Amino acid sequence: MDFQWTKKDLLDLYDLSRDEILHILNTAEEFKKVSQRNVKKVPALRGRTVVNLFVEPSTRTRVSFELAEQRLSADIINMNADVSSFRKGETLLDTLKNIQALQADIVVIRHQATGAPNFLARELNMGVVNAGDGAHSHPTQALLDIFTIREKKGRIEGLNVVIVGDILHSRVARSNVWGLIKLGANVTFAGPATLVPREFEQIGVRVCHNLKDALADADVINLLRIQLERQQRGYFPSLGEYSRFFGIHPETLRYIKRDALIMHPGPINRGVEIDSAVADGPQSVILEQVTNGLAVRMAVLFLVAGCLK
Ligand code: CP
Repeated sequence: MDFQWTKKDLLDLYDLSRDEILHILNTAEEFKKVSQRNVKKVPALRGRTVVNLFVEPSTRTRVSFELAEQRLSADIINMNADVSSFRKGETLLDTLKNIQALQADIVVIRHQATGAPNFLARELNMGVVNAGDGAHSHPTQALLDIFTIREKKGRIEGLNVVIVGDILHSRVARSNVWGLIKLGANVTFAGPATLVPREFEQIGVRVCHNLKDALADADVINLLRIQLERQQRGYFPSLGEYSRFFGIHPETLRYIKRDALIMHPGPINRGVEIDSAVADGPQSVILEQVTNGLAVRMAVLFLVAGCLK
């Protein structure tokens, strides 16, 4: 596809056109081939400096970004928020203006405040890549999820994708939904009424509070972690109750399509939203999602870097 990427930031899939999303996925396909070679490194970001600033905990996203930067030959600064001058009251913007003054090129940021990456992108000349902000957006997770679906199913258009769980607090669901709708999938959100508001119907999502009904025609089942740390009050009586009605167990596999993909962004609460037999079973592509995250993040950093002055 003859396509010119023009954005210095990656903030959300809401902001991206169908063609921009496809361009990232196609670029990631090329980078996946690099990761399958004996020599897994390319010089694409040689001379560029990337700062990783994770103010919220992360395993997959942080390690995957850092490895992507290494594979692209970037210089890397990993900032530790706990020992930075945030602790002395310096603002996020002042901190990053100082980093920018050191000629860093891109900041990869995870922050608990919704919109923090968008704010920084407006204020800074550096590229800003959102690695997850509050309950708002997690674009690279959605891109790697969509990449994995396309790789496994050969298409996105017309697929029935069911996202199950704590939609209310999920940046993964919010980013996935924009990408999936733009690429023509049918999206269902399933879970208890307290965690799956009907408002999403206004953007074309089917909302379903009965798991069996939701999963009947599912081609893809993406399970979300119950985010106890973001819940201010009890949204269901107990984890056991949630697992009974909305968890995926070996018995669930009897009534879903045999070729339905089981996905999870991680980290998994084994025995809550998914049993180990399913998470580690033949329909699960959970670890392939992680593998694909590396290619997707290499693609995003490469495209963003190409738009910097
Ligand atoms: N999926 C995801 O964002 O995982 P981490 O919180 O470990 O980065």
